[in-house]
Amino acid sequence: MHNLPRMNTSELIKKKRNNLSLTGEELKFLIDGYLNGEVADYQMSAFLMAVYFRGMTDDETFRLTELMIDSGVRLDLSGIRVPKIDKHSTGGVGDKTSLILAPLVACEGIAVPMISGRGLGHTGGTLDKLESIPGFDVNLSLKEFTGLIGSAGVALAGQTKDFAPADKKLYALRDVTATVECIPLITSSIMSKKLAEGADGFVFDVKIGRGGNLPGQNEPVELAKKLISTSRRAGKKAIAVLTDMEQPLGRKIGNWLEVEESVELMSGSMIPDLFKLTATLAGAMIFLGGKSSDIAEGEQIAVSRLMDKSALRKFEEIVALQKGEVGYLKDWTRLKRSRIARTVFAGESGFVSELKADIIGLASIDLGCGRKKISDDIDPLAGIVLHAKIGDEVKAGDPVLEMYADTPERLDSAEKRIAGAICISHNKPESRKLIIDILD
Ligand code: URA
Repeated sequence: MHNLPRMNTSELIKKKRNNLSLTGEELKFLIDGYLNGEVADYQMSAFLMAVYFRGMTDDETFRLTELMIDSGVRLDLSGIRVPKIDKHSTGGVGDKTSLILAPLVACEGIAVPMISGRGLGHTGGTLDKLESIPGFDVNLSLKEFTGLIGSAGVALAGQTKDFAPADKKLYALRDVTATVECIPLITSSIMSKKLAEGADGFVFDVKIGRGGNLPGQNEPVELAKKLISTSRRAGKKAIAVLTDMEQPLGRKIGNWLEVEESVELMSGSMIPDLFKLTATLAGAMIFLGGKSSDIAEGEQIAVSRLMDKSALRKFEEIVALQKGEVGYLKDWTRLKRSRIARTVFAGESGFVSELKADIIGLASIDLGCGRKKISDDIDPLAGIVLHAKIGDEVKAGDPVLEMYADTPERLDSAEKRIAGAICISHNKPESRKLIIDILD
């Protein structure tokens, strides 16, 4: 800080407010100052709101990303001499692809350093899903994380305080100042954590639709482009897959239920949308890892790894290495559910035309799958099993979905919400495109 020219925080806020770009040094002054207390919360809040309205150039976004990485450690995986590819999803409902992709891609000799998060808003989190396997330890030290990537080619862990602490502090402020939904801030937040973990390339699954975390059609596309350009600028390979998140992915929503459905898929069951999305994302990861000539060939390799059950064996290996009970996992056909169940039936005959993913996600939180407050406990066996998906024909009285929870009150709240999530029409709706676009 001492060798920086004297700067004035309010002048820098004004500069952004007036739609001018900040230099790297000016951004450094703000971020360093925010971390050491010289820039106050109210000043950073004003700056973030100015960014929300005025945006940031690619240059500013990249500089902010680097500053946030440099606030913590950068993992050096250069000693691990295989390609290292990770996937990031902007978050969805019923999206359990990380659980399948990590072992699947690792089977191809590509290391997967996967740092995941917890549930956010109406969307679930990979860590909560993994912790539904008794004993599974997601709290790995950096040494344990690197060690597992070296020995097993994959590790599934939670964000530690070592990575991008500036992002943690800024994110908490954004969360309470209505500045989360801002493309350059989201980009630098995601990329600072991804780049710190030391992978060579990234596949981004950017969700479009009411179950995703960004509204509209254009914002997700813009985010996908920014994630790719920031990755490239950092010397990393990147592909973004734009995918439909209007209805939940697969048929199961809930922490253990999603582990169960992942194991089901890896054991050879056909779950069409989950299968297609997993194969596409794995194909992109395999291609980025240099093990196929294009995404389509990578997809074929991925499918064969699912079919010959090597992905399942690798998943069992990860569970054992991260202290999870493999017996509990292997016993998945003996269905494990919360204490009480309730079925929601179709009120009329016709075709399911809407299964609103955001509302179903919120209902799953009512059931105990997520937290309303940080201190809330999660019920690992709670959740929802869909008996129908958009486009399916139902008769009045047919089951549309089943809910599981530990108390009738939880079922009551979820049932009230779910009533607004299901629409049945007389005409068959047009089929939805799951993979909307691939940007590379
Ligand atoms: N996820 C992140 O990590 N950061 C954001 O800003 C939004 C989603």
